[in-house]
Amino acid sequence: MNLVVVGAQWGDEGKGKLIDILSEGVDITVRYQGGNNAGHTVIVGDEEYIFHLVPSAILRRDKVCVIGNGAVVDPKALLDEIGALKKRGLPMTGQQLKVASNAHVVMPYHRVMDGLRDSKRAQKIGTTGRGIGPCYADKVGRMGVRMADLLNPRALKAKIADNLAEKNDILVNVYRHKRYDFDAVYQEYLGHGQRLRPYICDTALYLNAAIDRGKKILFEGAQGTFLDIDFGTYPFVTSSNATTGGVSSGTGVPPTKIGRVVAAVKAYTTRVGEGPFPTEFKGSMDEAIRRKGLEFGATTGRPRRCGWFDSVLVRYAVIINGATQLAIMKLDVLDDLPQLKIATAYTYQGKTYKDYPHDGEVLSHVKPVYEVLPGWCADTRKVRSFVQLPANARRYIRRLEELLKVRVKYISVGSGRDATIVR
Ligand code: IMP
Ligand code: MG
Repeated sequence: MNLVVVGAQWGDEGKGKLIDILSEGVDITVRYQGGNNAGHTVIVGDEEYIFHLVPSAILRRDKVCVIGNGAVVDPKALLDEIGALKKRGLPMTGQQLKVASNAHVVMPYHRVMDGLRDSKRAQKIGTTGRGIGPCYADKVGRMGVRMADLLNPRALKAKIADNLAEKNDILVNVYRHKRYDFDAVYQEYLGHGQRLRPYICDTALYLNAAIDRGKKILFEGAQGTFLDIDFGTYPFVTSSNATTGGVSSGTGVPPTKIGRVVAAVKAYTTRVGEGPFPTEFKGSMDEAIRRKGLEFGATTGRPRRCGWFDSVLVRYAVIINGATQLAIMKLDVLDDLPQLKIATAYTYQGKTYKDYPHDGEVLSHVKPVYEVLPGWCADTRKVRSFVQLPANARRYIRRLEELLKVRVKYISVGSGRDATIVR
């Protein structure tokens, strides 16, 4: 059965590790949205790998990895990532990695506009600065450059000329920024196209044909449900559909061919960048969990904001993603805490909210209603089965299952592949 791994919080749930484990049982792993704003960390033995664009499953040499049409590709970032993985001994051939010819390309002016736009806003989003938002904006605005254009000098020339005519005006007149030289951009991107040629193909046809041959596919979500452009904490979101709904439009594989959805959550909550976060810790807890959980952004290095588990948000994520199973990551980070809290509702101006409110003003001001559970104050890092977990850890997990109405299938108690409990 084809499966999706999706983040049910604000990204960084530990999907990299989960995908690395689950990809063992599939033939092909596919990114369907986002770009090199993502950072998936995988630890194999003593080696740490951080993936941005390339699916984490590339570490398994017999698997195929695909960057689907719903993703946006910064060709230079992709070439750098391919180069770095080659240096670490991976073959990185066109057999192993495929990139959709209709995926949109991140251009240099997208990266620059990303920062400039955020700098002009009173309510900053705190983007990763990788040009993701402006690239998706051009896609929807029907002025984007696609991977196929990089292989067609005439088309590329016309598109870059059209784009620079507009972007240079905006850059110079609105932002007082320097203009881009047409020849420099054109030559650079033509070069990227030549180097990426072996990887570019119609990935929708490739994936559907593979399914017909009985191959199994894992769709790898980047970011998370509350960074989704439609369902997230808008406008403090990323510019793509990180939820399961993005899989079909982002790959060309129809919903009828997707069977299983694993939603990943941390045993607590984190968020990088700006925006509402009802269960955010106040005071020293924030620092303590950040240190214990090594909560720093894999892409930007920014400290992640930390907080208690929010079942209001995650229940919503379970519903809209159609999660059939839950993976609870980083349970061991909570090992020392005498008490744990789970948000089960919010209150604001005398009203109780049992469901996630889309009014950003409400969400930024709500007070969580907490249920308090006893901690386990024991080391879980060596535990490999559910029954061996301390009783209070099992109780915490069972309570989450009740609140979220989904079964917990995976529990992660450390960064290594083996530090995982499968139920
Ligand atoms: P953008 O995706 O760079 O436009 O950033 C928009 C928001 O999403 C910012 O708050 C980022 O910090 C956040 N974000 C983007 N990608 C990730 C990710 O992979 N993990 C966590 N947060 C992310
Ligand atoms: Mg990440």
